[in-house]
Amino acid sequence: MRFKEQIDVTRLPEHIAIIMDGNGRWAKNQGKFRHFGHESGVLSVKDIVEGCADIGIKHLTVYAFSTENWNRPIEEVNALMELLISTINQETATLTKNNIRLNAIGDIASLPQKCIEDLKSAMDKTAGNTRCTLTLALSYSAKWELIEAAKKLAQLVKDQSLRIDEINEENFAAQLTTLNIPDPELMIRTSGEHRISNFLLWQMAYTELYFTDTLWPDFRREDLFEAIVDYQKRERRFGKISEQLN
Ligand code: FPP
Repeated sequence: MRFKEQIDVTRLPEHIAIIMDGNGRWAKNQGKFRHFGHESGVLSVKDIVEGCADIGIKHLTVYAFSTENWNRPIEEVNALMELLISTINQETATLTKNNIRLNAIGDIASLPQKCIEDLKSAMDKTAGNTRCTLTLALSYSAKWELIEAAKKLAQLVKDQSLRIDEINEENFAAQLTTLNIPDPELMIRTSGEHRISNFLLWQMAYTELYFTDTLWPDFRREDLFEAIVDYQKRERRFGKISEQLN
């Protein structure tokens, strides 16, 4: 039986986060430049977004460019920015047709101006779409996000809008870039690396982690469905014991 048919649609994760890893190795395995791997990775993004929308996943967040990725060779950084711009512009109509909203988290102001403008335009055009939200993590790192949140809370305290003893999980989370997005129940990382790499550290406190050796450009919706089937076999106890769950 195919993995899609094994999914219990009444127990879907509401939010799936993905660390798309292995583009460079995928290209190298074929004797091609790294950029070829990133271009092929876009085809996986498209297939996974459609796969999510198809089965009813409401939120998908993909780690497209980390704060640390700025340290890559300038040619690769520029190529990734160009790819981002061309993909956003080519795919906005398809996102709209499929009722998918585009969102972005991260230090967006640090991106090239053209990227900021095209991203904003695509986000505006898709703002009313309701089937699924695709969030691109761009120039994102969780430590950056947490420091920004701490600064905002400090400002609220300084302005006397909040007392220190009033700081709690709820008003802390409200300062994060993922405001209005539920925490992911499932995080997938491709390419055999078993790391979180500064991704959604606060939001993944209780996320189920799924690692696969498949390189990102080979990852397709059937692989996603396999991960969801695996997730649905797990018991999520949130610190309780099994007997308390029913
Ligand atoms: C990790 O593979 C991938 C990235 C740093 C970039 C991911 C970007 C894309 C899939 C394309 C653009 C995406 C969108 C949404 C338009 P790696 O380069 O670290 O691979 P390696 O570990 O094998 O070197």
